[in-house]
Amino acid sequence: MNEFDILKELSLEEKAMLTVGKDFWHFESIDRLGLDSVLVTDGPHGVRKQKEIGKEMGSSESVKATCFPPACLSASSWNPELIEEEGNAIAQEALSESVDVILGPGANIKRSPLCGRNFEYFSEDPLLASSAASALINGIQKNGVGTSLKHFALNNQEKMRFVSNSVVDLRAMNEIYLKQFELAVKNSQPSTIMCSYNMINGEYSSDNKWLLNDKLRDEWGFKGLVVTDWGAMNDRVKGIKAGLDVEMPGPNKDNVLKVIRAVQSGALKEEDLDKVCLRIIRLALNAKKNRKNTTYDIKEHHEIARKIAVGSMVLLKNADSLLPLDKNKTYSVIGPFAKKPRYQGSGSSQINSHYVDSPYDELLKKGYSVTYSENVDDARGKDAVIVFIGLTEEIEGEGFDRKDLNLPESHNRLVEEALKVNENVVVVIYAGSAFLMPWKDKVKSILLAYLPGEAAGEATADILAGDVNPSGKLAETFPLSLEDTPCYLNFATDRKNVLYEESILVGYRYYDYFNKDVLFPFGTGLSYTKFEYSEMHVNEIGENQFKVCVKVKNIGSADGAEVVQIYVEMPESKIFRAKRELRGFKKVFIKKGEEVEVEIILTPDSFSYYSVPLKRFDIEDGNYRIYASSSSRDHRLYSDVHVKGNKDPQVMPWHPGDDFSLLFENNSLPIIEEDEKLSMNSTLRDVLEDEGAKEIFKPLIDKYTAPFKDRNDGMSRMMMAMALDMPLRAVAIMVGESQAEVEKTINALTIK
Ligand code: BGC
Repeated sequence: MNEFDILKELSLEEKAMLTVGKDFWHFESIDRLGLDSVLVTDGPHGVRKQKEIGKEMGSSESVKATCFPPACLSASSWNPELIEEEGNAIAQEALSESVDVILGPGANIKRSPLCGRNFEYFSEDPLLASSAASALINGIQKNGVGTSLKHFALNNQEKMRFVSNSVVDLRAMNEIYLKQFELAVKNSQPSTIMCSYNMINGEYSSDNKWLLNDKLRDEWGFKGLVVTDWGAMNDRVKGIKAGLDVEMPGPNKDNVLKVIRAVQSGALKEEDLDKVCLRIIRLALNAKKNRKNTTYDIKEHHEIARKIAVGSMVLLKNADSLLPLDKNKTYSVIGPFAKKPRYQGSGSSQINSHYVDSPYDELLKKGYSVTYSENVDDARGKDAVIVFIGLTEEIEGEGFDRKDLNLPESHNRLVEEALKVNENVVVVIYAGSAFLMPWKDKVKSILLAYLPGEAAGEATADILAGDVNPSGKLAETFPLSLEDTPCYLNFATDRKNVLYEESILVGYRYYDYFNKDVLFPFGTGLSYTKFEYSEMHVNEIGENQFKVCVKVKNIGSADGAEVVQIYVEMPESKIFRAKRELRGFKKVFIKKGEEVEVEIILTPDSFSYYSVPLKRFDIEDGNYRIYASSSSRDHRLYSDVHVKGNKDPQVMPWHPGDDFSLLFENNSLPIIEEDEKLSMNSTLRDVLEDEGAKEIFKPLIDKYTAPFKDRNDGMSRMMMAMALDMPLRAVAIMVGESQAEVEKTINALTIK
């Protein structure tokens, strides 16, 4: 039977049942018609399939799997081929575990370095984020395993992520926050998309027709299915009208009933429900067709994890060529992460890795004269000291945000102590997001290993030893202070409304616009060799299409790789815009002494901006400057071109510092008022602040916290951190209570 035949056979009850998950990780099945349930599991940088698969998140261990480098590191490779290889390997593991859909990649823009979940996201730039996301999707999906591009959209902080309202102007939305989703959909058609928890301009993503239908399907041509984030469903009936296909997790009998009743009463057209069902059936049939029994080679996958990590780590400083290490010298190794590196983030993406190696052991294995010590004194008299530090999982993780940009004080102190006894200090850092480096000018070398996945030790040692030449470049800016960050005053405050007042000035767009110094700019990264750029040519190859050619020569003494970045600027623009924007890039491997010609194509999109008055992307007519650059602040060559377009470009009249509401229709900000009465969207924090409700809901709260409150692992930390920000509707689902019963209790309370 094809999808239409199956649909014809379904009763209204069965159709309604399909719109809600069967359990925590399965979609509903209709056995009498041979429609299997689809098994979905996290992602994104490996397979996290719980052993007790029907059960709630974190309640049981997950199966062993390869922990590939999380997005914060893999994005720094600027190498889609490498990320596609990761996807390919993840798919083999998914197939071997009968997993139909991997819940990833996460493609949200890094709006602030404080977002606790930045480690799971790629970049502050939509082009780079989309290229990485598309590569992972392509790698996974070419094996018949599905993906879920998430979290769509505007989920850029963890605090109050279930109920916050991202207030964003349409230009920033189209150019920055939706752009990477648009490109990934157009370039790689993920089989599913996961909507975010939050509201966007006053409307929950889960029932936002503009987002899920008008943008995603009508404008971008998305063919797949939309699933909620876990517990994100706000209004099931409204969601169906908006194009939200499956509510997860399940079961949720109350919502099934609501859907049935809505069709019976005429509030929901059966044809709208049919559209949703067809998409669900199609995914299930595809999943069934693509399942196959496979195994994978654990060692081989570990080597892939290692290859991605070495191809992505970023060398930020290397004075006196202290790196690579020298086998004739003696080194002292100190720091908490030298023997036990932090290699992945915590929360829903946490993989139960096969095995993790340590950088210290790997350096020993390579034959270096290294001694490990907890005492800095050991560094005295050695040729150099290598300090391993970073962010700990108590500081960053899913479900909560960081409070500041500092590394743990004890980690910074260790570097300072090392500097007191040895002038040659190398710092190796494991962390998922940008941080401050008070010792930056005093140490000789800095290697940013981010979170490298299970081959952390081998990969770090490969780079330190120079067995592989570092070639990663930052996919985000490292600022000089928290106060310098674009959304400093508007990030994770206690308010539900999150005003994106910096508009399109996100990441380097902001720092460049205001000529602000930074700690390390977007796109930067050193190598053990040097590259020289020459002979840049830009040729028009079609209407507003250009081929940029530039020669790059490896003029140092080691083979290496360079990421050529193309930034576009319009110096005489009539409208407000970022100073320069990344519009293309290519990573090239060049042997020492050799030269290659790099070609990068610019399309009309490379020159477009979003015009709110025209309600579409538009191109301003005029001269554009195209830079061939080694980083966002290291422009090597440029060339000017004329681009044909609109001589009268139109944007909302606004500049940074002007009233934010000028960017919105009728100058009215789509903010939501705080609820006066408790409702299903009230958070546990709201409930605990209400004397009456607190007592009544105590059993529900206890049931939610019981499995986690006495544990100290990453998953429990996340579940506890999220608790206060979780609305009652989601808490009910998470603990398997009836939403209708909770709603009755709330209504009884508020009537009194
Ligand atoms: C996360 C998603 C994840 C889902 C299932 C949610 O809390 O936001 O990224 O896929 O849980 O674990």
